[in-house]
Amino acid sequence: MTKDLDVRVCEVGLRDGLQLVSTFFPTAQKLAWIRAEAAAGVREIEVTSFVPPKLVPQFVDAEQVVREALQLPGLSVMALIPNMKGAERGFALGVHQLNFVMSVSRTHNLKNVRREREESVADLKRIVEARNAQPKGRRPSIVGGLSTALGCSYEGRVPVDDVRRYAGELAACGVDEILVADTVGYGDPAQVRTVFKAVMAEVGSLPVGAHFHDTRGTGLANVAAALDVGVRRFDASLAGLGGCPFAPGASGNIVMDDLVFMLDSMGLRTGIDLQKLFQVREIVSRNLPGIDLYGAVAKAGLPTKYVSADARAD
Ligand code: COA
Ligand code: ZN
Repeated sequence: MTKDLDVRVCEVGLRDGLQLVSTFFPTAQKLAWIRAEAAAGVREIEVTSFVPPKLVPQFVDAEQVVREALQLPGLSVMALIPNMKGAERGFALGVHQLNFVMSVSRTHNLKNVRREREESVADLKRIVEARNAQPKGRRPSIVGGLSTALGCSYEGRVPVDDVRRYAGELAACGVDEILVADTVGYGDPAQVRTVFKAVMAEVGSLPVGAHFHDTRGTGLANVAAALDVGVRRFDASLAGLGGCPFAPGASGNIVMDDLVFMLDSMGLRTGIDLQKLFQVREIVSRNLPGIDLYGAVAKAGLPTKYVSADARAD
């Protein structure tokens, strides 16, 4: 992390949010969203998903979106991948980060990526090897994502020991980072402390990020708990879009704008300009008429005479 940031905040709405939306979000509008968030100071954006377009038509323009996003100076361009084919599409474009996804719960992994968990781990090992064989300067960092780590809508509770074990297996594959995901919003702050502590103890110095959904209203409380145990990377989506088409009942990610406000109020620098971030909501709302946009701070406004963490740090 660069020295001017205390916490990394990654926008995932263009992937996690849009994958559930059946209307096609025009490519030029996706790019307008990416440019506007980058201009607001967001430095990491998951811009698309390298999955078969037949399965998720929203991402038929993945190549074009990545190519154009890579033109933006200072932006780290990320994409989700479920397998080697997805990784190869990312290598060909020179994407900066690949988020590999597997689920801790067996049923969700079978439904989502049609693989046993062991097959996913074996895929990831080959992907990291293929990445290491790419020419210097074109080796994306690889994030090992563990979905359904705090609960599964098919299996219910997910044992902490399974999360710990798979985190260790992903680390052993050579990933650069682990991302623990509460795909269906079952987590609570006490559980977050337990699970993240277990994962962090297992993977040593490897950074561990958090991907929370606010399905049951515990999203920002979970962020506070994760901060307490040392997590410094969070995924979120503007206006709380989000969900997984293969996880019944999954709904929005934690709201980007509310997350940034909370962190900023706590004196944690994110590099993001809140006023500029609020304005980006307009791009999302005009392209998704009829879809609910969330966000307490956008609705209530910033507190009177609010001073950002960056300004306070000067
Ligand atoms: N990108 C583009 N095409 C891909 C691909 C990828 N990442 N992976 C596979 N394909 C193509 C194959 O080339 C093949 O094409 P063909 O029918 O023209 O020969 C076809 O898709 C089937 O390939 P196969 O390897 O047999 O995949 P599968 O049917 O077992 O599906 C996944 C496995 C992983 C590709 C699929 O389950 C998937 O994309 N899951 C992710 C779902 C998702 O987006 N979830 C939400 C995010 S958490
Ligand atoms: Zn998600």
